[in-house]
Amino acid sequence: MTTYKYFGPVCSMFGYGCLGGLGDELRIRGYKKALIVTDRAIVELGIAAKVIEVLDNTGIGHAVFADVKPNPTVANVKAGLTLLRAEGCDFIVTVGGGSSHDCGKAIGILATNGGEVEDYRGVDKSKKKALDIVAVNTTAGTGSECTRAYVISDEEKRTKTGIRDRNALVAIAVNDHSLMMSLPRGLTAATGMDALVHAVECYISKNGFLLTSQLSLAAIRCVFDWLREAVRTPSSERAREGMAVAEYLAGLAFGNGGIGMVHAVSHQLGALYDLPHGLCNAILLPPVMEFNKRGAEAKLAELGRFLRPLDCEGKSDSIMADVAIEEFRNLSSDIGTLVPLGSLGVRREDFDLIAQKALADMSLLNNPVQPTADEIVGVLQSVY
Ligand SMILES: NC(=O)c1ccc[n+]([C@@H]2O[C@H](COP(=O)([O-])OP(=O)(O)OC[C@H]3O[C@@H](n4cnc5c(N)ncnc54)[C@H](O)[C@@H]3O)[C@@H](O)[C@H]2O)c1
Ligand SMILES: [Fe+2]
Repeated sequence: MTTYKYFGPVCSMFGYGCLGGLGDELRIRGYKKALIVTDRAIVELGIAAKVIEVLDNTGIGHAVFADVKPNPTVANVKAGLTLLRAEGCDFIVTVGGGSSHDCGKAIGILATNGGEVEDYRGVDKSKKKALDIVAVNTTAGTGSECTRAYVISDEEKRTKTGIRDRNALVAIAVNDHSLMMSLPRGLTAATGMDALVHAVECYISKNGFLLTSQLSLAAIRCVFDWLREAVRTPSSERAREGMAVAEYLAGLAFGNGGIGMVHAVSHQLGALYDLPHGLCNAILLPPVMEFNKRGAEAKLAELGRFLRPLDCEGKSDSIMADVAIEEFRNLSSDIGTLVPLGSLGVRREDFDLIAQKALADMSLLNNPVQPTADEIVGVLQSVY
């Protein structure tokens, strides 16, 4: 007997302007007052106001917590939870990218289970379902609105680890690409590469199965079809829609099939230097896949044949795996995410520490090859 489990949000909404239809879904659920979890930029861009308008039109009250940092912290979660309790909110609306959703998931888990973020690090550690979460997504990258995962940095220990908890799945995911039109080029590129890395890492994951592989392929197709255009022409509605679908498919894939070594290392870069998650992933993708060829050459070759079907006749797995890695590198170079780590303020003297912390990261469990600390340092050096 083989059993694969698949988790996803109960209700997902898509389409340009679909936020306008959220009120009907909220009314059915009988909510009274929302805690909006978001960041300053989302408020300044007027995106939070659009969500508030929907709540007002539906007769639902709200309080706003707008202090989420990129790479959200334990302190962010505590502050949000305090406000939620003081305001008597009965559900959470996260508005933004992965940082807002992850912070909201942690608040939701603590609201119903009590305790500290620390108590839930690991897999399925909570007993009760989080307070209901509605995730209004404004980036096309993390897939956090459809996964069980959330990532909270511990600023004291300078670590950033993922938590996987079925109780953290959101009730409603809103992927309205009209809210993504304002994403600047750099963030479009970095978050789009995050989606690609999710799909690629899931495709070669030890924990993947046919459903997650097919979702990964569909996500990779969408990224290659739309990411260049989304970066070149940020006002392109079809490219934004393509990337909104890409990141969702990739989220469903890795949320069930796992991620790998790119994330294990990039989480540490995010925690130590507060760097954009997608950018770290983009930089690490080619060298980590070169490292992974040892254990996943055939899978990477499948991706090479998928991406360059007219160029594979009679070619070996080794050659086609290299083709896949070349395609990743070309895309990253075209959209400006192929930058040296040194240019981001990463210090060589931290490499051993980064490697040690990466070895303890849960994401590594699904990587096809288990690296040594020296091998992780080698990867970092190769892109410095
Ligand atoms: N839970 C998961 O499954 C999962 C998966 C991958 C990454 N993550 C986490 O998600 C976080 C990264 O999330 P992210 O990449 O979505 O970025 P983010 O949420 O950190 O946002 C980055 C910046 O983009 C701005 N922004 C967001 N939407 C915008 C828009 N439409 N227009 C203009 N600016 C906008 C934000 O204000 C912020 O300043 C990291 O902490 C990462 O570890 C979580
Ligand atoms: Fe990611």
